[in-house]
Amino acid sequence: MRSFAGRDILSLKGFERAEFEHVFEVADELEPIARGRRNVDLLAGKTLVTAFYQPSTRTRLAHEAAMHRLGGHVLGFSDAKMTRAGDFYQESIKDTVHMLEYYGDALVMRHFQQGAPHEAARWTSIPVINAGDGWGEHPTQVLTDLYTVQRELGTVDGLTFLCIGDMRMRTMHSIAYALTQFDAEMIAIAPPDMSLTDEFKAELAEQNFTIREVDHVRDAIAEADVIYMEPVVQADYTASRQERGEDVGTTPEQYRVTREVLNDAKPSSIILHSLPRMDELPPDVDATRHARYWEEAYYGVVMRMTLLSLILGAKE
Ligand code: CP
Repeated sequence: MRSFAGRDILSLKGFERAEFEHVFEVADELEPIARGRRNVDLLAGKTLVTAFYQPSTRTRLAHEAAMHRLGGHVLGFSDAKMTRAGDFYQESIKDTVHMLEYYGDALVMRHFQQGAPHEAARWTSIPVINAGDGWGEHPTQVLTDLYTVQRELGTVDGLTFLCIGDMRMRTMHSIAYALTQFDAEMIAIAPPDMSLTDEFKAELAEQNFTIREVDHVRDAIAEADVIYMEPVVQADYTASRQERGEDVGTTPEQYRVTREVLNDAKPSSIILHSLPRMDELPPDVDATRHARYWEEAYYGVVMRMTLLSLILGAKE
């Protein structure tokens, strides 16, 4: 297995089975710190730089919370408009990150351009974490999601993931790459204009991973162990920011998971949603036995503690 020390976390493509297992083991070690709401000194003397060119609630703050739990420091920006990258100068990624490397020991970047964190990693000597790049990938979210599955169901192998929503979404790409490393099935349900591309399916087929596509949540809900959701009513992830219009539309029934739909689900099935949600997952589902998205948010801190400890060399 490749060492994590000094490594960029840009994509789950090529992330190996043993690496997932190792990350989950380290997460198990660190989880009691978060559960006990303790702060320790594992990353004392280390600084994380956050460079968010797109809005975020969970990803940025979970990374910050993780650094605080481990005794490290955080600095950065959450609105690129207030930097030279977002004003008259339109400072390049290259110039920006070349300088940010002097301000900290690792960089976490969210960007509206697919591949921007990869570009950043070329121009900085500190490890770069992809916190979501356009429609590209969201590797730390999906590591969080699979760790949540591991904790809640005891395994990822042998499970059927029913993925509902916009398949252009970065989490959907990362989860498909990740599941190639497990004995798991993926079923996808998406509107035709948000479906998996032939190019992406061909790329997965090269790894002998085939995704079954169905039209309606009712066609597959009874098979699902993990109901994995993204909105179909959502923002353009290639934009730096999108304000909400007067009429955002509503989610067609075939992409919604309601209490009624869940009557046909396995009692043991769990719902994950990386959030924020729209009307595809009504709030009254929160009180069902299936909801695990709040646990998922909690494990988001544990997973960022894990990844930061590994790439900063505090954990082997
Ligand atoms: N899950 C997720 O990426 O949420 P944020 O956009 O709030 O970071």
